[in-house]
Amino acid sequence: MCGIVGYIGKRNSLQIIFDGLKRLEYRGYDSAGVAVIDEDNNINSFKKAGKVKELEVEFDKDLLAGKIGIGHTRWATHGEPNDNNAHPHFDMNKNITIVHNGIIENYKTLKKKLSLEGFTFSTDTDTEVLANLIEFHYKQKGSFEIAVRLALTEVEGTYGIACLCKSEPDKIIIARMGSPLMFGLGKDEIIVSSDAAAIINHTKNVIYLEDGEMAILKKDSFQIKTIEDEDIYREVQKIEYDLEEIEKGGFEHFMLKEICEQPEAIRNTYRGRINFETGVVKLGGLESVKEKLFNAKRIILTGCGTAWHAALVGEYMLEQYCRIPTEVEYASEFRYRNPIINKDDIVILISQSGETADTHAALKEAKKLGATTVGIVNVVGSTIARAVDAGTYIHAGPEIGVASTKAFTCQLMSLALITLMIGKNKGTISESELKEIADELKVLPDKMKQIIDKRNDYKFIAEEFKDSRNFLYLGRGFNFPVALEGALKLKEISYIHAEGYPAAEMKHGPIALIDENMPVVFIAPKDKTYDKIISNIEEIKARKGKIISIATEDDNEIQNYSDYILRVPNTLPIFSPILNSIPLQFLSYYIATARDCNVDQPRNLAKSVTVE
Ligand code: F6R
Repeated sequence: MCGIVGYIGKRNSLQIIFDGLKRLEYRGYDSAGVAVIDEDNNINSFKKAGKVKELEVEFDKDLLAGKIGIGHTRWATHGEPNDNNAHPHFDMNKNITIVHNGIIENYKTLKKKLSLEGFTFSTDTDTEVLANLIEFHYKQKGSFEIAVRLALTEVEGTYGIACLCKSEPDKIIIARMGSPLMFGLGKDEIIVSSDAAAIINHTKNVIYLEDGEMAILKKDSFQIKTIEDEDIYREVQKIEYDLEEIEKGGFEHFMLKEICEQPEAIRNTYRGRINFETGVVKLGGLESVKEKLFNAKRIILTGCGTAWHAALVGEYMLEQYCRIPTEVEYASEFRYRNPIINKDDIVILISQSGETADTHAALKEAKKLGATTVGIVNVVGSTIARAVDAGTYIHAGPEIGVASTKAFTCQLMSLALITLMIGKNKGTISESELKEIADELKVLPDKMKQIIDKRNDYKFIAEEFKDSRNFLYLGRGFNFPVALEGALKLKEISYIHAEGYPAAEMKHGPIALIDENMPVVFIAPKDKTYDKIISNIEEIKARKGKIISIATEDDNEIQNYSDYILRVPNTLPIFSPILNSIPLQFLSYYIATARDCNVDQPRNLAKSVTVE
């Protein structure tokens, strides 16, 4: 959600913090602020509602000069996104300054307690309560480190924090519980961030904090401890991607870049993991649990949003090719409905960011109940990736656009690889089928590129439909979840209401919505459901709905029923969701840009949802 950046070293911190915040803005973007310690050890701060870029010009660079500072880009949880509620927050004595990501659940109780001690508050935020709580302990103990520690032992909820103390101006203290936080080790400098994207142009050497840990950072040294005051030794890790990967590289938006990157991203997902001669798949990260996977009596797939859609496709794959009963759960519901989970169950957690709070909570619940947990994650070293029993990275590369695109198709590819691995072992996929799938995989990226190369065709359709108020997306089998995903993409970046349904379900209610103003997107591959889809199309046509069909190139019949056709190359059913997703991504992208929407940072959204 929110983004945190901090700097301590020899350089002026403001620009470094600003550049970092710009890179993190995709995580949250309703307000931003910085606080910097100047040469006279005063803490100066500026914060405002709005996007980082817009605010940059308003910051007084002289006032905010200094070599130690913290900054924040916010996605509001407590208190509306206005100047006052923006971070950093101060305690009432202006001794402690803090930026915070997460939610302090017991902040009302703590606020009451502090009010009785004479503390006053000037914002609606939970964060200001924490600043005052630290100051409360500081006044008693006279130590910044002890004050932070004691305050955090009283806090319930989640946090990633970075704080400054006017009385101890030579350090930044950071701490984490449920919200990602790391620091990069440069030459005589340390850069703090909630995401490696803000660190990578300074250093690739990072240290990730774990839950329940804090770090005391000075310009040339650091110390990691638990909140209970035990010393921690932590290995330095290397960030695996390069700066270019998180820049737009000539594309107008990150989302467009990421859609177009998909052929390469998919190649990265399967590279080195499949033997093309035999179709045998080996996923190194799953070696330790492979016997459990092969003998699984039940698999539960879980995630949120787009990742949940990927899970639905995974259910079709695993049941069809591996004959393993598979269930899909919303991660946000999982732990609240007292799920029946057995020790033999495999729970697969799907998450691009690896930081989604609900998915992480589902993981903890699954572990508590004794299941084997497996991650399908993009961000290397993320919380979920580190907490699962075993996992496979999708290797999609950094995804900055808030709407997930390449991560979705790479999640589908990872699920396909897991399916092939299990199916081969169980004998539910024949040798010849395996070989056929492997052969198709070799040409899949080129087929994806063929769709991408024709992206300009979508602009015309986008112009036609940019003023529509509603859309329906219909698909069957493997492509029903793709319909859901297409509808989600349109909703989130163009603010047009859209729903996805299994095509046959339309008759059970949604058909009442059909009139000449309703565009209906049909995903109509030439598979065993094709004739049924055609019947569904006719039902819509009879009621004057506008038909946009995603159809294969060899389909000469579809033009008799469709107002618009978006062509995709033919492929095997297991890969059809991957190809069919791309036209839907472009459709939403071009409709959103035709409506002048901010596709990379849609309103009210944030890239990784680290609060429940
Ligand atoms: C939609 C989208 C979200 C995420 C969801 C889960 O385009 O991006 O629905 O898929 O918030 O996020 P991750 O995959 O990071 O757990």
